[in-house]
Amino acid sequence: MFNKRIKIKDLLAQEPRGQEATVMGWVRTFRNNQFIALNDGSTNNNLQVVAGLGKFDEELLKRITTSASLRITGTVVPSLGKGQKMDLNAESIEILGDSDAEKYPLQPKKHSLEFLREIAHLRFRTNTFGAVFRIRHSLAFAIHKFFNDKGFVYMHTPIITASDAEGAGEMFRVTTLPFDRTPRNEDGNVNFKEDFFGRSTNLTVSGQLEGELGATAFGEIYTFGPTFRAENSNTARHLAEFWMIEPEMAFYDLEDNMNLAEEFIKYIIKYAIDNNKEDLEFLAQRLADEEKQLSQDKRSEMGLIEKLEFVLNNSFERLTYTEAIEILKESNHNKKKKFQYPITGWGMDLQSEHERYLVEKHFKKPVILNNYPKEIKAFYMRQNEDGKTVAAMDILAPGIGEIVGGSQREERLDKLEARMREMHIPAEELWWYLDTRRFGTVPHAGFGLGFERMVQFVTGMTNIRDVIAFPRTPKSAEF
Ligand code: 4AD
Ligand code: MG
Repeated sequence: MFNKRIKIKDLLAQEPRGQEATVMGWVRTFRNNQFIALNDGSTNNNLQVVAGLGKFDEELLKRITTSASLRITGTVVPSLGKGQKMDLNAESIEILGDSDAEKYPLQPKKHSLEFLREIAHLRFRTNTFGAVFRIRHSLAFAIHKFFNDKGFVYMHTPIITASDAEGAGEMFRVTTLPFDRTPRNEDGNVNFKEDFFGRSTNLTVSGQLEGELGATAFGEIYTFGPTFRAENSNTARHLAEFWMIEPEMAFYDLEDNMNLAEEFIKYIIKYAIDNNKEDLEFLAQRLADEEKQLSQDKRSEMGLIEKLEFVLNNSFERLTYTEAIEILKESNHNKKKKFQYPITGWGMDLQSEHERYLVEKHFKKPVILNNYPKEIKAFYMRQNEDGKTVAAMDILAPGIGEIVGGSQREERLDKLEARMREMHIPAEELWWYLDTRRFGTVPHAGFGLGFERMVQFVTGMTNIRDVIAFPRTPKSAEF
């Protein structure tokens, strides 16, 4: 058997008392031909391995270079040096894989996040990305735990689909048809009958519509999977491929939906605080250091952990779209014409600058905006009595903007069909969706949380490209 190692995180939790241990990992640094800082990804804390002078071949020592992989057995003793409680006094050192120091792109010094994006295949080996991706993992686990504990069924909705759930036309096509000699109908249009599925298909933008089919059988379901949007937005919060969590609940109205979303967000933040303290502290320090370069007014008012605790301990501000427009219209910011998009009045879609004003300047906490004009929302949202608004809700988070989008769904067949006609959504293609309204329809609601935006919020990373392993954005699909 090859692997009888102990993970460095677990070893560091022990008391050093001369016990034997075998560790494996990658060299971060090698000082004075004697001290190896070894990292195995279980924690940002390196294990100090001491290669006693004269104990090992010069030939072997030369091969202990940054990112070489090692298997080391030795005894664990209290450290004589400062900064660590234990040393591993090496008895045997085996090089598992050499790493040419001249060619290794990730030298042990501070690199910019932009540079690290270009070597995303290696960036997990840095402290920053180690912390971010361990937290990402924890949040994913917490999400499953939250819903599992509440009895929700985890549903895998299809990735290839023939429908556009959001009706926004931002889809990546899936096809096996050739680019040249594309089969055409007599009218010149592409003949999708000859395509793999015999129809036009695309990557899913949301699992919601299928999720509703699950909710109207199991009562409560959630999805957690990749979604794809071909929106040409080159921003720090848009990806072409992102992960979304979409719970969908029968017998819920808009208020139940908002309550669940708030409880959910708080739960996963708390999980990270309880389980990823070291990594959060590292990222909090990193953020504080980074902000030192900014002018006072651009710095965050709270540290990262303080911000997370504030969110846990305060209820989210809830207000209607109509109230929000009033606040924005009357704001000094608007009167002094500081918005790129001035507030023209009721009905306009909110831009992220407006959302961030409400959250960061006005309320200074997460906000749940609800009851939006029906014209700026999707066809499936439940129409309110006023004939103008729908039972929608968006959650806006400081530093991020929209993090959740959701609604109560239109469960009344006649109203849903009428809205689909108005919005030119083809009812024939969604016959299966409409069947839920035909056979035992119920009030129901759901929402979608953008996973990467949530990871951004918890880790304080400003660019969404730094919280997903291999970001897909316009003109970029490396790795
Ligand atoms: O607001 P959206 O478009 O809502 C839906 O897709 C609904 N079907 C959800 C539902 O009710 N089940 O997207 C939901 C969330 C957004 O609030 C945002 O956090 C995230 O998904 N999101 C993106 N994240 C990264 N990159 C993008 N291009 C995103 N588009 C949306
Ligand atoms: Mg939205």
